[in-house]
Amino acid sequence: MNSENKTAESLIVTLPCTGWGQNEPANPQAVEALEQGKVLYLPNLAFMLSEEEKQLLDPSLVDVKRKNISFKPVEGTLTGITDSSKEPLLRGLLQRYYQHSLSLMNQLLPDYTTSLCHPTNSLRLHPVSAWRDKTSWRKDDSRLHVDAFPSRPNYGQRILRLFSNINPYGEPRSWRVGEDFRQLASRYLPQLDRFSPFSSWLQHKVGITKSPRSHYDHLMLQLHDKMKSDAEYQKNGLQIPFDFPSGSSWICFSDQTPHAAMSGQYILEQTFLLPVSGMKHPEQSPLKILESLTHETLV
Ligand code: SIN
Ligand code: FE
Repeated sequence: MNSENKTAESLIVTLPCTGWGQNEPANPQAVEALEQGKVLYLPNLAFMLSEEEKQLLDPSLVDVKRKNISFKPVEGTLTGITDSSKEPLLRGLLQRYYQHSLSLMNQLLPDYTTSLCHPTNSLRLHPVSAWRDKTSWRKDDSRLHVDAFPSRPNYGQRILRLFSNINPYGEPRSWRVGEDFRQLASRYLPQLDRFSPFSSWLQHKVGITKSPRSHYDHLMLQLHDKMKSDAEYQKNGLQIPFDFPSGSSWICFSDQTPHAAMSGQYILEQTFLLPVSGMKHPEQSPLKILESLTHETLV
C-alpha cells in the first residue's frame, strides 16, 4: 500500500460536531474540504437507536436479492426487507435518519441548503466480508473506487453521502481513502473506452439504464470499473487506511473521493444529489475536471 506523502490529515478533516444540526456553529472549512475531495470525519456525532430499534440490527431482515435495505424518504418507498412486520419500525428509523441528516447538512453546509435533492438512504446490515465472498468484482466495494450508478445516469450531479456507524459491539467501519480526483482521472483517462452514443441509446432502449448515459456517466462508470479491476492500483495506489469507530459519522462526495470499505458491520447511509451549479467551487467537480482533461462538453 502506497501511503507515501499522504497522511490521514491531508485526506480526512475532523470536525467536533456533537449534535445533528441544532446549535452547531457553521464551519466554512467544511464545504472547502469536502469540495477538495476530503472526508469530513465527525467522531462525536453518534446516531442513537432506541431499544426497540436495536432488534433491526439483524442481517436476515435483508432480502437475499439485495445488498441493503433502502428507503426513499420523499416518496416513502422502502425496499429490500424480508419481514413486513418490521416495516413500521424500519420506516421510523430511516425517516428519522433522513431528518437528522437534512438538519446536519443545513447547519454544516448551508451553501447546499436549496440545492440538495433526490434523498435516499440505506441500512447496511451485512458484514463487509460478505461482499467479497458473494459478489462480482464490480460490486465489491472493498476495492477502491469512486461511485457511479450503472442504471441511473446522473449527468454530472454530485453524490454526497453521510455514513453513521451504529455497530452495537463497538466494531469500527474500516475504510481506505485514496488520492485527489484530478490526479486519479488524469492517470486513468487514456485507458477508458470511447463513448458510443448508439450503445448508450440501446442500453436505455432495452432497459439497462433508466435514461441514456451521457458521455460523463460513461467515463465515470469506466473509471469505477478500471479502478476496481486494477490489482496493482488496489495494492500500491495512493491510499490511507482509516477506522470510523462505532458512534461516529462521516461525509464525503463519493463520486470524487476514492474509497473502499474493508471491514465492519451495521451502518446507516444517507445520499443526496447536488447539481454542480449548487457547489461553491464547481470547477472541483468530477464533471468540470473531466471536461478540462478531455477538452469536451460531457453532458
Ligand atoms: C461504499 O460506498 O462503497 C461502501 C461504503 C460502506 O458501506 O462503508
Ligand atoms: Fe462506494
